[in-house]
Amino acid sequence: MHKVIYDTDPGVDDAMALLFLHHHQEIDLLGITTVFGNATIETTTRNALFLKREWKIDCPVARGAGETFIPHRPSHEPPVLIHGHDGLGNIGVPETIDLPEDGRPAHRFIVDTIRANPGEVTLVAVGRMTNLAHALKEDPEIVDLVKQVVIMGGAFDCNGNVTPAAEANIHGDPEAADIVFTAKWPVVVVGLDVTMQTVMTNTQLADIRDAAGSSRARLLFDLSQFYIQFYQGRVPDGMVVHDSCAAVYVVAPELFQTRAGAIRVVCGGIADGQTIQKPDGRGFGPSDWDGIVSQTICTGIDAEAVLRLIHDTI
Ligand code: BDR
Ligand code: CA
Repeated sequence: MHKVIYDTDPGVDDAMALLFLHHHQEIDLLGITTVFGNATIETTTRNALFLKREWKIDCPVARGAGETFIPHRPSHEPPVLIHGHDGLGNIGVPETIDLPEDGRPAHRFIVDTIRANPGEVTLVAVGRMTNLAHALKEDPEIVDLVKQVVIMGGAFDCNGNVTPAAEANIHGDPEAADIVFTAKWPVVVVGLDVTMQTVMTNTQLADIRDAAGSSRARLLFDLSQFYIQFYQGRVPDGMVVHDSCAAVYVVAPELFQTRAGAIRVVCGGIADGQTIQKPDGRGFGPSDWDGIVSQTICTGIDAEAVLRLIHDTI
């Protein structure tokens, strides 16, 4: 059983990954922590509570960061063209959800949960890395207590999706991401290199809706339609399942090809938020890369098998 904390900014593809984590039999979802990104922190937290209620997910929701790790860093407007004004495809989520939040801030929830389950917790982070950076600052010893950190973010051997250099989750808080990638805990990064190949067709989504025949499956279908429209013309008709790829990695790492090496993030300038990996074994002169821990990035994916697993699970 994989004990998972899901750090997320729901977000349409975030919602699908949540449903996957909730339904997969080998996953024990210990909590949902929210972060700003696809919408404000108020909206992403409200959305997490909404999905928890609609999908009857029995785990705490802890509210996280509403701004970048370094306060007042110029940040970016939420991508309303992709996820809608309500963050869930403009389906009309109620203003407030009558469910309690966990009283702790997300980073405290992360630290407490890792300490209560030493060696067992996998962090699946699919938004800005801000909460994870705060958790590391609050309790640096968690690096030895966590099992694994699986991240959706970055673009290594391909362009970004916000700028030619940077992917959204990293671009939204580059300093936080650099802290998370260079910390001495085991990180696996599932970036655009593989997620852009992983597109669920609208027919497959409709199939899930019809096969499951429930209001839960209908909600997933409905909230995905706006996002699918945004991607039309950019990818084959359907939904790029970025965040679900990270969730799938937890239970089926054999569906991915990987490469090991230190990772750093460009902080500032024209390539703000770019992720770079120095493959293990490559020699360069002395630099800021010396002594940086080796992490894992995904370079290939069996997209068909990943999509089948998502389909069959949810
Ligand atoms: C990432 O950015 C967000 O829009 C998605 O939810 C995903 O986590 C993809 O770049
Ligand atoms: Ca996300």
